[in-house]
Amino acid sequence: MNKSSKRFDQIYGEQAPESIPWNSLELPTSIYDLIKNKQIKACRAIDIGCGLGNYSRILSKMGFKMTGIDFSSVATEKAQKLADKELLSIEMYIRNVAKLLNDNAYYFTIAFNEEDDYFEGKGKFRETPTGSVLYFSNPNEIQKLFSPLFHILDLKNIAIPGKNGNHRAYYAFMQKKNAV
Ligand SMILES: C[S@@+](CC[C@H](N)C(=O)[O-])C[C@H]1O[C@@H](n2cnc3c(N)ncnc32)[C@H](O)[C@@H]1O
Repeated sequence: MNKSSKRFDQIYGEQAPESIPWNSLELPTSIYDLIKNKQIKACRAIDIGCGLGNYSRILSKMGFKMTGIDFSSVATEKAQKLADKELLSIEMYIRNVAKLLNDNAYYFTIAFNEEDDYFEGKGKFRETPTGSVLYFSNPNEIQKLFSPLFHILDLKNIAIPGKNGNHRAYYAFMQKKNAV
Protein backbone atom coordinates (compact mmCIF):
# COMPACT_ATOMS: atom_id res chain seq x y z
CA MET A 1 0.00 0.00 0.00
CA ASN A 2 1.46 3.39 -0.96
CA LYS A 3 0.20 6.93 -1.56
CA SER A 4 -0.68 6.31 -5.23
CA SER A 5 -2.56 3.07 -4.60
CA LYS A 6 -4.55 4.80 -1.85
CA ARG A 7 -5.56 7.52 -4.30
CA PHE A 8 -6.74 4.88 -6.79
CA ASP A 9 -8.61 3.08 -3.96
CA GLN A 10 -10.39 6.34 -3.27
CA ILE A 11 -11.33 6.86 -6.94
CA TYR A 12 -12.60 3.27 -7.40
CA GLY A 13 -14.37 3.38 -4.04
CA GLU A 14 -16.11 6.73 -4.44
CA GLN A 15 -16.83 7.14 -8.15
CA ALA A 16 -19.37 5.34 -10.31
CA PRO A 17 -17.52 3.41 -13.08
CA GLU A 18 -19.01 5.59 -15.81
CA SER A 19 -17.60 8.75 -14.21
CA ILE A 20 -14.03 7.34 -13.96
CA PRO A 21 -12.28 9.03 -16.92
CA TRP A 22 -10.34 5.99 -18.22
CA ASN A 23 -13.01 3.36 -17.59
CA SER A 24 -14.15 1.92 -20.91
CA LEU A 25 -16.20 -1.13 -21.83
CA GLU A 26 -14.49 -1.39 -25.22
CA LEU A 27 -11.13 -2.99 -25.98
CA PRO A 28 -8.65 -0.40 -27.36
CA THR A 29 -8.44 -0.66 -31.16
CA SER A 30 -4.65 -1.11 -30.98
CA ILE A 31 -5.02 -4.32 -28.92
CA TYR A 32 -7.94 -5.50 -31.01
CA ASP A 33 -5.83 -5.03 -34.20
CA LEU A 34 -2.92 -7.07 -32.77
CA ILE A 35 -5.39 -9.95 -32.29
CA LYS A 36 -7.15 -9.44 -35.63
CA ASN A 37 -3.78 -9.36 -37.48
CA LYS A 38 -2.77 -12.54 -35.60
CA GLN A 39 0.28 -10.85 -34.01
CA ILE A 40 -1.19 -12.18 -30.77
CA LYS A 41 -3.24 -15.37 -30.53
CA ALA A 42 -5.44 -16.33 -27.58
CA CYS A 43 -2.99 -17.22 -24.80
CA ARG A 44 -2.34 -16.76 -21.11
CA ALA A 45 -2.18 -13.00 -20.51
CA ILE A 46 -1.89 -10.51 -17.67
CA ASP A 47 -3.90 -7.30 -17.63
CA ILE A 48 -1.49 -5.05 -15.73
CA GLY A 49 -3.24 -2.15 -13.99
CA CYS A 50 -6.54 -3.88 -14.77
CA GLY A 51 -8.72 -1.44 -12.81
CA LEU A 52 -12.24 -2.84 -12.92
CA GLY A 53 -11.06 -5.59 -15.29
CA ASN A 54 -13.10 -4.57 -18.33
CA TYR A 55 -10.37 -5.57 -20.81
CA SER A 56 -9.79 -8.84 -18.96
CA ARG A 57 -13.46 -9.77 -19.30
CA ILE A 58 -13.54 -8.91 -23.02
CA LEU A 59 -10.33 -10.87 -23.71
CA SER A 60 -11.52 -13.80 -21.62
CA LYS A 61 -14.60 -14.01 -23.83
CA MET A 62 -12.24 -14.03 -26.85
CA GLY A 63 -10.44 -17.14 -25.51
CA PHE A 64 -7.59 -15.59 -23.52
CA LYS A 65 -6.79 -17.05 -20.09
CA MET A 66 -6.69 -13.81 -18.16
CA THR A 67 -5.15 -12.74 -14.88
CA GLY A 68 -5.71 -9.18 -13.69
CA ILE A 69 -3.38 -7.29 -11.39
CA ASP A 70 -3.74 -3.88 -9.87
CA PHE A 71 -2.28 -2.24 -6.79
CA SER A 72 -5.72 -0.93 -5.82
CA SER A 73 -7.41 -3.48 -3.56
CA VAL A 74 -10.76 -1.74 -4.13
CA ALA A 75 -10.41 -2.09 -7.92
CA THR A 76 -9.35 -5.75 -7.81
CA GLU A 77 -12.18 -6.68 -5.47
CA LYS A 78 -14.73 -5.00 -7.75
CA ALA A 79 -13.06 -6.51 -10.85
CA GLN A 80 -13.30 -10.00 -9.32
CA LYS A 81 -17.00 -9.53 -8.59
CA LEU A 82 -17.69 -8.32 -12.16
CA ALA A 83 -15.85 -11.33 -13.63
CA ASP A 84 -17.59 -13.80 -11.29
CA LYS A 85 -20.97 -12.29 -12.14
CA GLU A 86 -20.35 -13.19 -15.81
CA LEU A 87 -19.03 -16.64 -14.76
CA LEU A 88 -15.64 -15.88 -16.29
CA SER A 89 -12.64 -17.69 -14.92
CA ILE A 90 -10.37 -14.70 -14.22
CA GLU A 91 -8.18 -14.29 -11.18
CA MET A 92 -7.53 -10.78 -9.92
CA TYR A 93 -4.56 -10.06 -7.66
CA ILE A 94 -3.46 -7.04 -5.66
CA ARG A 95 0.11 -6.50 -6.82
CA ASN A 96 2.51 -3.69 -7.62
CA VAL A 97 3.54 -4.18 -11.26
CA ALA A 98 7.01 -2.79 -10.63
CA LYS A 99 7.91 -6.16 -9.05
CA LEU A 100 6.41 -8.54 -11.61
CA LEU A 101 8.11 -8.63 -15.02
CA ASN A 102 9.13 -11.99 -16.65
CA ASP A 103 12.03 -12.60 -19.05
CA ASN A 104 10.93 -13.19 -22.70
CA ALA A 105 7.32 -12.23 -21.93
CA TYR A 106 5.57 -9.71 -24.16
CA TYR A 107 4.34 -6.37 -22.83
CA PHE A 108 2.08 -3.80 -24.38
CA THR A 109 2.01 -0.30 -22.95
CA ILE A 110 0.65 3.11 -23.80
CA ALA A 111 2.13 6.52 -22.93
CA PHE A 112 0.45 9.85 -23.55
CA ASN A 113 2.04 11.97 -26.30
CA GLU A 114 3.59 15.26 -25.16
CA GLU A 115 2.46 16.84 -28.44
CA ASP A 116 -1.18 16.49 -27.39
CA ASP A 117 -1.94 20.06 -26.31
CA TYR A 118 -5.64 19.46 -25.89
CA PHE A 119 -5.67 16.75 -23.22
CA GLU A 120 -5.30 18.44 -19.80
CA GLY A 121 -3.25 21.32 -21.25
CA LYS A 122 0.44 21.31 -22.16
CA GLY A 123 3.75 20.14 -20.69
CA LYS A 124 5.23 16.91 -19.39
CA PHE A 125 3.22 16.64 -16.15
CA ARG A 126 -0.50 17.46 -16.24
CA GLU A 127 -3.00 17.30 -13.41
CA THR A 128 -6.45 15.86 -14.14
CA PRO A 129 -9.72 16.81 -12.43
CA THR A 130 -9.49 13.58 -10.36
CA GLY A 131 -6.21 14.89 -8.84
CA SER A 132 -4.03 12.28 -10.58
CA VAL A 133 -0.91 13.54 -12.38
CA LEU A 134 -0.24 12.21 -15.88
CA TYR A 135 3.12 12.15 -17.64
CA PHE A 136 3.39 12.95 -21.37
CA SER A 137 6.24 11.41 -23.31
CA ASN A 138 7.93 11.11 -26.74
CA PRO A 139 9.52 8.27 -28.77
CA ASN A 140 13.12 9.14 -27.80
CA GLU A 141 12.31 8.96 -24.11
CA ILE A 142 10.38 5.72 -24.53
CA GLN A 143 13.28 4.12 -26.47
CA LYS A 144 15.79 5.28 -23.88
CA LEU A 145 13.67 4.09 -20.95
CA PHE A 146 12.73 0.65 -22.27
CA SER A 147 15.53 -0.46 -24.61
CA PRO A 148 18.00 -1.52 -21.86
CA LEU A 149 15.45 -4.08 -20.62
CA PHE A 150 13.12 -4.75 -23.57
CA HIS A 151 13.26 -5.48 -27.30
CA ILE A 152 10.92 -2.83 -28.70
CA LEU A 153 8.97 -4.65 -31.42
CA ASP A 154 6.68 -1.79 -32.37
CA LEU A 155 6.46 1.86 -31.33
CA LYS A 156 3.57 3.76 -32.88
CA ASN A 157 1.93 7.17 -32.64
CA ILE A 158 -1.80 6.51 -32.15
CA ALA A 159 -5.09 8.14 -31.21
CA ILE A 160 -7.04 6.69 -28.30
CA PRO A 161 -10.66 7.58 -27.70
CA GLY A 162 -11.41 9.57 -24.54
CA LYS A 163 -14.78 10.62 -23.17
CA ASN A 164 -14.48 14.08 -24.81
CA GLY A 165 -12.51 13.27 -27.96
CA ASN A 166 -9.36 11.49 -29.06
CA HIS A 167 -6.10 11.64 -27.09
CA ARG A 168 -2.70 11.26 -28.73
CA ALA A 169 -0.44 8.55 -27.41
CA TYR A 170 2.41 6.19 -28.23
CA TYR A 171 2.01 2.48 -28.03
CA ALA A 172 4.93 0.15 -27.44
CA PHE A 173 4.79 -3.61 -27.97
CA MET A 174 7.87 -5.13 -26.37
CA GLN A 175 9.56 -8.34 -25.30
CA LYS A 176 11.47 -8.42 -22.04
CA LYS A 177 15.17 -9.27 -22.53
CA ASN A 178 16.80 -12.04 -20.54
CA ALA A 179 18.25 -10.78 -17.30
CA VAL A 180 22.02 -11.26 -17.24
C1 LIG B 1 -5.58 4.62 -16.04
S1 LIG B 1 -6.05 3.27 -15.01
C2 LIG B 1 -6.50 2.06 -16.23
C3 LIG B 1 -7.34 0.92 -15.65
C4 LIG B 1 -7.83 -0.10 -16.67
N1 LIG B 1 -6.74 -0.71 -17.42
C5 LIG B 1 -8.81 0.53 -17.61
O1 LIG B 1 -8.44 0.80 -18.76
O2 LIG B 1 -9.95 0.78 -17.17
C6 LIG B 1 -4.48 2.71 -14.40
C7 LIG B 1 -4.60 1.56 -13.43
O3 LIG B 1 -3.29 1.13 -13.09
C8 LIG B 1 -3.23 0.87 -11.70
N2 LIG B 1 -1.82 1.05 -11.33
C9 LIG B 1 -1.06 2.19 -11.41
N3 LIG B 1 0.21 1.95 -11.01
C10 LIG B 1 0.27 0.63 -10.67
C11 LIG B 1 1.32 -0.22 -10.18
N4 LIG B 1 2.55 0.23 -9.93
N5 LIG B 1 1.03 -1.54 -9.98
C12 LIG B 1 -0.22 -2.02 -10.21
N6 LIG B 1 -1.26 -1.27 -10.66
C13 LIG B 1 -1.02 0.04 -10.89
C14 LIG B 1 -4.21 1.84 -11.07
O4 LIG B 1 -4.72 1.41 -9.82
C15 LIG B 1 -5.31 1.90 -12.14
O5 LIG B 1 -6.33 0.95 -11.92
